[in-house]
Amino acid sequence: MAKQLISSTAKKSVYRDGETVIKEFCEGFPKAEVFNEALCNARVETIQALNVPKVLGVSMVDGKWSLIKEYVEGKTLEQLMDENPDRLEEYMEQMVDLHIQIHSQACPLLNKLREKTSRALKNEEQLDDSLRYELRSRLDGMPRHTKLCHGDFNPSNIIAGDDGKLYVIDWVHASQGNASADVARTYLLFSLKDKKRAELYMEMFCDKTNTDKRYVQGWLPIVAAAQLVYKRPEEKELLESWINVFEYQ
Ligand SMILES: Nc1ncnc2c1ncn2[C@@H]1O[C@H](COP(=O)(O)OP(=O)(O)O)[C@@H](O)[C@H]1O
Ligand SMILES: [Mg+2]
Repeated sequence: MAKQLISSTAKKSVYRDGETVIKEFCEGFPKAEVFNEALCNARVETIQALNVPKVLGVSMVDGKWSLIKEYVEGKTLEQLMDENPDRLEEYMEQMVDLHIQIHSQACPLLNKLREKTSRALKNEEQLDDSLRYELRSRLDGMPRHTKLCHGDFNPSNIIAGDDGKLYVIDWVHASQGNASADVARTYLLFSLKDKKRAELYMEMFCDKTNTDKRYVQGWLPIVAAAQLVYKRPEEKELLESWINVFEYQ
């Protein structure tokens, strides 16, 4: 069977090739990021409680790096949410339960979320110095945890397998840290696409975990500032409105 394209962006294309998935990066894509994705996946796939398709290899063909992973037969939760809007609450509940399960795991060799975030704030040239100072002080004041955080937990990274299990992919941003930061990031990712889903996710997560919404909201300026690194013009307005809360305090 020939390779079939599953998804494609400017920087990478994902193909199915029989029982494997090939994630092919564009020419010039940083080698360290490719190997980092392989390493994060390899660390997380050993956690028994989670279903994580295994990384099978890393290769270089015609100047392009590829990751080879196990293929999972099924649909992403994003596809399911788009195809069956009347079942949104049911899918969201599955997603929230899975997120809570991830946060109940430990993966002590992963990078620390606090250090990654601190570095991102330090290097983000779009922040002026006083804002950077405010954001770094807020980060410093946040409780220190070591929970497994996915870092890019959104419905396109969850596959509802035909075998009835939920699989989690795309662990390149995985770290250990404060779960509320990971929740704030998911809320941000939803908000950039669909406000209704964002609010439903936040409500359900806070409700199920007995978390005060304001505690998650406290992370929003920090995760929004870290998102500036992607320099996406369509995200700028929302991100700046979240980052600039300090101006009104
Ligand atoms: N192991 C897999 N099995 C089946 N489909 C996959 C697998 N890995 C990725 N996909 C599909 O490819 C898409 C993009 O893969 P992903 O690793 O999330 O790349 P990206 O970094 O572009 O988000 C996913 O949303 C999913 O539809
Ligand atoms: Mg993805």
